[in-house]
Amino acid sequence: MIYLDSAATALWRPPQVVQAVTAAMTSLGNASRGVHGGSLAADRTIYGAREKLARFFGCPRPDHVVFTCNVTEALNIAIHGLLGPGDHVLSTDLEHNSVLRPLYRLEKDCGVAVDFVPADRLGRLDYGAFGRLLRPETRAIVCTHASNLTGELVDIAWIGRFAREHGLLLVVDAAQTAGVFPIDMTAMGIDVLCFTGHKGLLGPQGTGGLCVRPGVKIRPWKVGGTGVQTYSPVQPAEYPVCLEAGTLNSHGIAGLSAALDFLEETGIDAIRTRERALMERFYGGVRDIPGVTIYGDFSREKAAVVALNLGEEDAGAVADALFEEYGIAVRAGGHCAPRMHRALGTGERGAVRFSFSRANTEEEIDAAVRALEELSR
Ligand code: ALA
Repeated sequence: MIYLDSAATALWRPPQVVQAVTAAMTSLGNASRGVHGGSLAADRTIYGAREKLARFFGCPRPDHVVFTCNVTEALNIAIHGLLGPGDHVLSTDLEHNSVLRPLYRLEKDCGVAVDFVPADRLGRLDYGAFGRLLRPETRAIVCTHASNLTGELVDIAWIGRFAREHGLLLVVDAAQTAGVFPIDMTAMGIDVLCFTGHKGLLGPQGTGGLCVRPGVKIRPWKVGGTGVQTYSPVQPAEYPVCLEAGTLNSHGIAGLSAALDFLEETGIDAIRTRERALMERFYGGVRDIPGVTIYGDFSREKAAVVALNLGEEDAGAVADALFEEYGIAVRAGGHCAPRMHRALGTGERGAVRFSFSRANTEEEIDAAVRALEELSR
């Protein structure tokens, strides 16, 4: 198989990640719930991962790194735990349903008002709209770092400055950028950074979390056992346990921790440069194929994603043909990004998304280009 679906999940992982998960599964006890070696080893593994993530993302305190099972859970915790009746929130057309659906639900059920900064036909944000849509009751901006559909990169540092100037909280969905693009939540003015472990961070599925700026309070939606303050009827108020009821995925977190070591040794700049080169090779190869329509703006830095359509073919049929006839794995359809598809004019038919990782080879890229040439003929 030629795997060009890394925006959905990484397939290649450093061998030390697999080893770390395997070792953890046969050695770790339950963190914070014992004084024996296995439990303490789980504590050390988890705290070590918090320290690495805090360094990696510029989070001032490791104990403000909270683990969840994915970025969707992290975003739900942040969005539901920060917003309430009467609040107004700004988001964007670039968002994934992991941001849209929690916001739509709050809008429908909880008296939260939401406005979306529009994207144009190339999927570029209208930054001027942040100012135009601002209201006295605006409380937060919830926004992705990059579109999962086109790879369009959002200028989070600019939005962070805007949020500071207007006293707003900034919640960022880093699903498509963590592990590939530099993120410093302090320098960029991010209050809550939500990440997943299984994409660019190269960790296992079932890992993710949120990094919270000290001073930001998030109401927990989930309460329960934490291993501390057992006799209190209420959830402990301190980070990270306030948002971490229940046994953590220490096995997955051990793998994520090993992946962070790999990223540090390899350097994310080298990874990004490699991914960009592969994306440009693919883009250069397919852009002049008759019938191919490519979406997005390739004149500036973006995540390594190419979304396209072939003639009037159904996107799902093209993805099927790519896999059945050529063994090429891509993602087609709506990509959980309905507003972005509507902005691009692909709301009805969707698109075929090719996404790249450092583990892809030039030969794989060329094979995908040839496959599209043949399908076009
Ligand atoms: N959100 C992931 C994607 O874009 C699954 O494919």
